[in-house]
Amino acid sequence: MPRVFSGIQPSGDLHIGNWLGAVRNWVTMQEQHECLFCIVDLHAITGGYDVASLRRRTLEMAAGLVAAGIDPERAVLFVQSHVPEHSELMWLLNSVTPVGDLERMTQYKDKSAKLESIPAGLLNYPVLMAADILLYRADLVPVGEDQLQHLELARGIARKWNAEFGGGTDLFPEPQGLLGAARRIIGLDGQAKMSKSLGNTIGLVESPEAIWEKLRPAVTDPARKTKRDPGTPEVCNLYALHRHFSPPATVAEVAENCRGARWGCLDCKRVLAERMAATLAPIRERAADLAAAPERLETILADGAATARRMAQETMREVRDRMGFLAPTGQPAARGATA
Ligand code: TRP
Repeated sequence: MPRVFSGIQPSGDLHIGNWLGAVRNWVTMQEQHECLFCIVDLHAITGGYDVASLRRRTLEMAAGLVAAGIDPERAVLFVQSHVPEHSELMWLLNSVTPVGDLERMTQYKDKSAKLESIPAGLLNYPVLMAADILLYRADLVPVGEDQLQHLELARGIARKWNAEFGGGTDLFPEPQGLLGAARRIIGLDGQAKMSKSLGNTIGLVESPEAIWEKLRPAVTDPARKTKRDPGTPEVCNLYALHRHFSPPATVAEVAENCRGARWGCLDCKRVLAERMAATLAPIRERAADLAAAPERLETILADGAATARRMAQETMREVRDRMGFLAPTGQPAARGATA
């Protein structure tokens, strides 16, 4: 089975953008892949962050992932900082990572341009991401489009490390990126990518009433000032959501009634709200079950960290050995037990 690794920031409650863009895909992948899913709290501290809420956001993300269908029986779900080998490998990979490559990353350029003093962590962010992936020698990495450049860098790091320290046998496979079907989910403002910090999202476990409250004022085709103006579904963000939440026959009906100015936007939104609430109902239920037994989540994360750590330690023994480090026993790191 090919091995899959992916990471998500501890942003708190999942929203439908995370779900459509990434998490739904992860849930499907569990069936035919060996999967590791990681809540990347170490990545979350690179730009100034809210210390007081980090713990809560991490737990909420874990709960959301389990509610969404990440199954701890089939996938390893864990928190990045629980496996210190991520930080260790990152340091070692720094030695084969050109600073020039890091400075060329678009995400780094965008974020650093807004800062007066740039934390080194912001520059090294993609090295940590490479460490996440290589630590488990993952073959496939489902990511959003905005992370493809980081993944390409990780491939370069793997290549370079193998060339320098591989000794003829490559330790690290070059990880392949995997783009999901839903690439860019636009927020309810009809403008920016759906993102919690912009407040243009719908939460994954919101009640049907809350879903409606958010959809009702959402931005639609601006050409439709009144119900009598015919619309263009393709430019309407809510039509895009219909395509994710409604069956094909409903999607066709929506498009026809919008073009023909037979339905107003509210009519369309009412149907969408219904479909969305129905689609998300099983997730809401699982979330409620989990909230009723919080110790279950703790066990899931502890087990996940233990499994991940075992795998990580195995890789690190090999890495330390090939890089020539002395083991505490005085033997080369990996062969300490056998030599
Ligand atoms: N940087 C990714 C993001 O912001 C999250 C991430 C961290 C990740 N480590 C990873 C994704 C490893 C895939 C593989 O979305």
